Amino acid sequence: MEPTAKIWMNGVLRDWDDATIHVSTHGLHYGTGVFEGIRCYDTEIGPAVFRHKDHIDRLYKSAELYYMPIPYTPEQIRQATLELIGKNGMRSCYIRPIAYRGYGTMGLFPLDAPVDVTIAVWEWGAYLGDEGTRNGIRAKVSSWRRISNDSLIPHAKASGQYLNSILAKIESHKAGYEEAILLDDHGFVCEGSGENIYAVRDGVIITPPQTAGILDGINRKAIIQIARDLGFEVVERDIARAELYLAEEVFLTGTAAELVPVREVDDHAVGTGKPGEITKAVQTAFHDALYGRTERYREWLDPVPVPSPVR
Ligand SMILES: Cc1ncc(COP(=O)(O)O)c(C=O)c1O
Repeated sequence: MEPTAKIWMNGVLRDWDDATIHVSTHGLHYGTGVFEGIRCYDTEIGPAVFRHKDHIDRLYKSAELYYMPIPYTPEQIRQATLELIGKNGMRSCYIRPIAYRGYGTMGLFPLDAPVDVTIAVWEWGAYLGDEGTRNGIRAKVSSWRRISNDSLIPHAKASGQYLNSILAKIESHKAGYEEAILLDDHGFVCEGSGENIYAVRDGVIITPPQTAGILDGINRKAIIQIARDLGFEVVERDIARAELYLAEEVFLTGTAAELVPVREVDDHAVGTGKPGEITKAVQTAFHDALYGRTERYREWLDPVPVPSPVR
């Protein structure tokens, strides 16, 4: 993680090294935080944040699900983010807003603890590597099941919930794979440790439904639309584990990873063992959307205003 000049903390711009919090912060002890992962791209129309409002909207929904009132409006967070990118002089970056229960109370009743908000931006390349984006990754079905709807809230992007993803990620890494695929509590395919998942069967793109314990990915929405616009059929339905082995193609999407083909699952080659034609077509159209090369998806971009010159 490369430091940038400034971080936004509760409305104040702080130097990277001064952006610190107290060790008794509630969220550090109990995982009481909600966050987003967003990307800004150097697009055809200048630096622009991809589906910015959708991410901010999900941040507020995650907060509400955990009874956490964010003491800023969504528009204030949006403006603060755009300003921060401009102030740091970045043309592309990863953006991490987080709202968390701060310093003041301990114990499991959090509602008296303050809600603090920070926004950090930094340069972050392809999460699963450029080679993975091009030629596909090897994935392993994890022995850990994705958090279920009856013990946590898969729809929330909440800090503590990520211990589940982290266990799966470590397990897959130690076993020599690039990513973990988690099943839901019924044993159906759910998602990657930080990505939504899709398989192609008989030419149809299938992806687990909202009820499978997925995070409702912003890129998932974009991919479903792009794939349909390209003329592909997309069906949201439960996917059996063996269908990943039998699929012609498998791919993952997420803000950090973008669109990554999966070339092997549990040592079974997926299709030919190379990224398939449908995956490549959707990936190309998706990248075109991210970089503002397609007129019809330009509305997904939130341009970063050029910072006014310092007088
Ligand atoms: C657990 C999990 N699932 C899916 C995703 C994909 O979501 P998005 O496309 O909104 O980045 C992410 C990344 O945010 C994630 O952490």
